[in-house]
Amino acid sequence: MTHIMDNITQTALSYIETEDKYGAHNYHPLPVVLERGEGVWVWDVDGKKYLDFLSAYSAVNQGHCHPRIINTMIQQAQKLTLTSRAFYNNLLGKTEKFMAELFGYDKVLMMNSGVEAVESAMKLARKWAYKVKGVETNKARILFAKENFHGRTLSVISASTDPTAKNDFGPFMPGIDSIPYDNVQALATALADDPNIAAFIVEPIQGEAGVYVPSDHYLSEAAQLCKKYNVLFIADEIQTGIARTGTMLVTDTLKDAQGNRIKPDMIILGKALSGGAMPVSAVLCDDPIMLTIKPGEHGSTFGGNPLACAVAIEALQVVLDENLADNAAKMGELFRAGLRKIAERNPLIKIVRGKGLLNAIVIDTDEDSDLAWNICLKFRDNGLIAKPTHGNKIRLAPPLVIHEDQIQMALDIIEKSLEAFRP
Ligand SMILES: Cc1ncc(COP(=O)(O)O)c(C=O)c1O
Repeated sequence: MTHIMDNITQTALSYIETEDKYGAHNYHPLPVVLERGEGVWVWDVDGKKYLDFLSAYSAVNQGHCHPRIINTMIQQAQKLTLTSRAFYNNLLGKTEKFMAELFGYDKVLMMNSGVEAVESAMKLARKWAYKVKGVETNKARILFAKENFHGRTLSVISASTDPTAKNDFGPFMPGIDSIPYDNVQALATALADDPNIAAFIVEPIQGEAGVYVPSDHYLSEAAQLCKKYNVLFIADEIQTGIARTGTMLVTDTLKDAQGNRIKPDMIILGKALSGGAMPVSAVLCDDPIMLTIKPGEHGSTFGGNPLACAVAIEALQVVLDENLADNAAKMGELFRAGLRKIAERNPLIKIVRGKGLLNAIVIDTDEDSDLAWNICLKFRDNGLIAKPTHGNKIRLAPPLVIHEDQIQMALDIIEKSLEAFRP
């Protein structure tokens, strides 16, 4: 691995050393120290400018510090930030109505981080299994896909198949199993085997796993199988949602063989729900599921706070007003076409894949080699920041406000940087 100090100024190094000394070592950040962002751009502490091709793991879809979102945030912060759910506030109902109508569900449960929303979805699924489906107490099971990523709490890592996420954190939550992703037959077998399955929770595109896009009919067939077995089909759209892949949600495009729309029983949102301004997440589903949880049975001090509500409405309205889904679709096509041309000229790129502006290149090297990391350091030196995910895959996911000239700029940086590693 290229030494962490390479091409780092003393100023940047002092920030890195402070984090290293006083912070938990639970991340391995790319050595770049950011202090300002605007749209697709971020600036480091030395004033150097970069195209942001991670977008805080798809949380800043609307671009860094979107003026409408930040203004709304400031105005609301000066008025009322937190009431807790011990009292009503004037924004929660309005936000729930806005989101319920926008996404087509009866009800919304607002939480904060993404993983909290996943936990909430798991709790709802279990409650529903006992109260509605009639599963015997404590027998409910929840299925996940292998290589998933849904966050870091103990229950959620209990569903993980990644040893790094799990090692030495056991014992794990019972009633959780995983089956191969993008494999309808595996799901059919699991569902047929056990009447106690409450839900199948799945990422419509596996982001952390390396932007793995499943085959065309996988999600709609999985949803229909779940319906057949009275199992909730739950889509974790925390990374794929809010216009990232060219539609508001990936699951907006699901249809059965007759062309009828298929709606997941539950969707989970986070990240760009606030445009990256603060943690806001949500679970959406219809009454027969949501109303199984009664007062006092679940909650969060900050969930549904007025500041989050104001920010979430504005963040979603920006996505609609600026047609960010369409832009993600168009810019994504352009970007992948450009990446494929680079791949023709440089065999280091083994695979180009993705949807909308959630993309990855797979570098022709071993999963555990340092090459993808070193390529990302070169991207950084040339003015673009991105990070490897799972060894040899580099996720490329800029804010959705990106323009054609900026896509071209990114492609030029990517090609030039890869030249340095030509085999
Ligand atoms: C699909 C998916 N679910 C859940 C999460 C967890 O979200 P958070 O980090 O906000 O807890 C992530 C984060 O990357 C994610 O990509």
